[in-house]
Amino acid sequence: MKFDFPKDFLFGAASSACQIESAYLEDGKGEDVTGYYSKIYPEKFAGSHPNDSADFYYKYPEDIKMMQDLGLKCFRFSISWSRIFPNNPDEINQAGIDYYSDVIDKIREAGMKVFFDLWHCDLPMWVIEKGGVVNREFIDWFHKYAEVCFKAFGDRVDFWSTINEPSINIMAAYAYEHQAPFLRDMDLAIKACHVAILAHYDVVRLYKSMNFTGQIGAVIHVEPTYALTMDEKDEKAAERRFAFYSGVWMDPMFKGYYPKILMDYPWYTSKLPEGFEKELADNFIDSDFISINYYSPSFVKYADNGELDYEFVKNQQLPGDDYGFVVYPQGLFDVVNILHKTYPNKDIYITENGIGVKKEGTLDEQLVDDYRINYLREHLHSVSNAIKAGVPVKGYFHWSIIDTWEGYAGGYNFIFGFIQVNYQTRERRPRKSYHYYKEVIKQGSVY
Ligand code: NOJ
Repeated sequence: MKFDFPKDFLFGAASSACQIESAYLEDGKGEDVTGYYSKIYPEKFAGSHPNDSADFYYKYPEDIKMMQDLGLKCFRFSISWSRIFPNNPDEINQAGIDYYSDVIDKIREAGMKVFFDLWHCDLPMWVIEKGGVVNREFIDWFHKYAEVCFKAFGDRVDFWSTINEPSINIMAAYAYEHQAPFLRDMDLAIKACHVAILAHYDVVRLYKSMNFTGQIGAVIHVEPTYALTMDEKDEKAAERRFAFYSGVWMDPMFKGYYPKILMDYPWYTSKLPEGFEKELADNFIDSDFISINYYSPSFVKYADNGELDYEFVKNQQLPGDDYGFVVYPQGLFDVVNILHKTYPNKDIYITENGIGVKKEGTLDEQLVDDYRINYLREHLHSVSNAIKAGVPVKGYFHWSIIDTWEGYAGGYNFIFGFIQVNYQTRERRPRKSYHYYKEVIKQGSVY
């Protein structure tokens, strides 16, 4: 069977600054949380450092040529905040601006659209030292940074994201020790998330006031959440989990309030600052598009635990990848349908989707990645089916265009890229999946 895509469908691929640039403190870049803490706690990063990644900082012309040859319609990448503001919110590093400016020019010269994240996962260390996201001054720092980026690049960027995966980079950082400030403090986590939403509104408002022709949103990690049984208690538990993980960002982004289903839970509402509802309502500004990263679903059942009354269960029937994700292409179809119903009239972009496989065998053997081809094919079937069902999915970005540094989740131990990096020589070679995706893009369809 043939699965077609609309002519203007944005076949893309993604990556991020701290995961492929290297040049960690070069040309005036300051410390960021990923590089700083991987020196302090190497054990949390599989003994790896972002400086040893793909060298995109030097090799971007070559990499962008490979993207062009692949036929990519759009490249999603991020700006490292600490390359622009290395030491504080006042001192700009011109070398950082010049570098990203040239990256953007090269992407456009190659005929691709540009999707840039302002903050992917590498907060500058000075932000952490000044109290991090929980400090309300964060809103001003982020504003200043965004303003410099919009002025320098705004006329050449098609899509902006303010924050990538805040459920990981903020919530998990404060509540589950996932990254700096490495806390297990749900109170602070929920407060930090609130500040981040206000910062998002502020930057969206700023962007819109500058009258560019591009669009702006935020990239949200979603896990379609399935109830263990069809019992209403389990189904409500699944709804609460989805609301707590993703709705907590998307309802404010598109509606100006927190998910109603959480409002009956003092465990959650008591951690929010006084007057939070009014603060959201007063500052609300709509985001332009829905952009989601989808890797895995989750499964829950009801549990009377005095928190949000759900607990995770394992689904034994579905395969997992080496990275720990459950592979379930139908989840992508389900989640875009749910989002379209919940937030109608918004274009949807799948800003990440991919499979992480442990490095085994020789470099030559690692070029043959049939598992990625199967994964991609099945997930693209889901996207095509969703479009046929009337869901406005406008683009798909595979993670990743090139092998990445996976930081906290395993350093350099996993393969995600269409393009292989030989970490001894930094030589690039296209994998089998690169050629497969090239054909998909050329045909505009998947078999
Ligand atoms: C989502 C993150 O945005 C990205 O940084 C990470 O590498 C991939 N997931 C794979 O885990």
